[in-house]
Amino acid sequence: MKILIIGNGGREHSIAVKICGSKSFIDSKSILYCTIGNPGIDKIAQPVNIKPTDISSLLNFALKEKIDFTVVGPEIPLSLGIADEFISKNLSIFGPVKSAAEIETSKIFAKDFMRKHGIPSAKFKSFSSENIGEVKGFIETLNFPIVIKADGLAAGKGVCIAESHADADSFITDLTSAKIFGESGSSFIIEEYLEGFELSIFAITDGKDYVLLPAAQDHKRIGEGDTGKNTGGMGSYAPADALIDDITYQKIKERIIEPVISGMSKSGREYKGCLYCGLMICGNKGNFEPYVIEFNCRFGDPETQAVLPLIKSDFLELLIASANGNIKNYKLEINNLYAGCVVAASKGYPDKYETGKVISGLDNIPGNVNVIHSGTVYSDDRKDVITSGGRVLSLVGFSDKSLTAALENAYKGLESINFDNICYRKDIGRKFYELLRQKD
Ligand code: AMP
Ligand code: GLY
Repeated sequence: MKILIIGNGGREHSIAVKICGSKSFIDSKSILYCTIGNPGIDKIAQPVNIKPTDISSLLNFALKEKIDFTVVGPEIPLSLGIADEFISKNLSIFGPVKSAAEIETSKIFAKDFMRKHGIPSAKFKSFSSENIGEVKGFIETLNFPIVIKADGLAAGKGVCIAESHADADSFITDLTSAKIFGESGSSFIIEEYLEGFELSIFAITDGKDYVLLPAAQDHKRIGEGDTGKNTGGMGSYAPADALIDDITYQKIKERIIEPVISGMSKSGREYKGCLYCGLMICGNKGNFEPYVIEFNCRFGDPETQAVLPLIKSDFLELLIASANGNIKNYKLEINNLYAGCVVAASKGYPDKYETGKVISGLDNIPGNVNVIHSGTVYSDDRKDVITSGGRVLSLVGFSDKSLTAALENAYKGLESINFDNICYRKDIGRKFYELLRQKD
């Protein structure tokens, strides 16, 4: 088989590693391609120099090279209709069609859909230039803090937790007058602030049936103790399922996952691929109430780095079963492992950050650690690997003993790596134990 991965960040590197380790991939002597690639991905996949947003060139490449299966990592190609284009040419692809991807690409669509299907999420109202005069009245129905979200994609930066009227006014002005996110922010929602802890759950679905991968927890803030600015994610761990009980798990399935899959199907937007559920688990032990914070139409980054290694059954077959409508016959098996992922970032991230720093120690990684590349490139003379992004590497540690041991391995891996002004959080996973204690 010839397999093409679209995207070249940490999520796509993790997907590539997992596909290469799949029995079906090895047995069929398959070849893996990846758009653009990076120094980590290039070790296992042939780079293809086409941008993930250049859908027509990707389609031509897939037809010419007779690609058997394509896996889409990021949301942007999905929002541009890559799945629709490939399917129209009988090419098999993992990821939802454009109309289904709207569950991520339009917050207003997602919130209206949830309201219509009774899926629990924060109380909200959507606004555009037509009803902007009603903002003040709606805010008066909520207590501060309140949450304001740009409607469209904004690279994870379109959300403001406003502590006061002044915060809210200034963000709304940024969205609507200064247009800091372009058209993505010309419409927006205001919603109530939910108190609880966050959980990321990936459902792999073929539009009818689904399997749930182990739950994970992201660490979105830049600073230790979940302080400072929001980032794309500074670390993750899995499994996080011990944080919730069976009843809560059942609520997540019955109130969230199943109504999404059936509701999307009924509205002619059959959802295939990975449905990322960003949840807020509210309430107290024994009576948790899961609420949806957001849906994404793809795997999460950096949760993927921690979740995929826990899958024991054939990962490539899982992705193909999603595309081919065969999830019903797929038997998901999970390893008895813990995984902790720590992201090494460039100085300045999530604002303007440094690049071009030489990374040392990549060949000296201890056992039980995967090094996943996000923002790395070769130097011009190709002698060095240098930093090129805000999030540079993910160090993923494993253990069959405990999450603590897995995280120790990740941090040991980090000790052997260096680049100028390397930044990382030292408290990844700590909140798992804090939350467990609160539960008892
Ligand atoms: P989003 O892009 O919708 O995932 O929002 C980014 C982050 O903002 C989430 O991961 C939460 O930490 C926080 N957030 C978003 N919506 C809410 C909400 N309604 N209540 C509390 N926190 C929220
Ligand atoms: N980790 C958050 C995301 O992928 O959107």
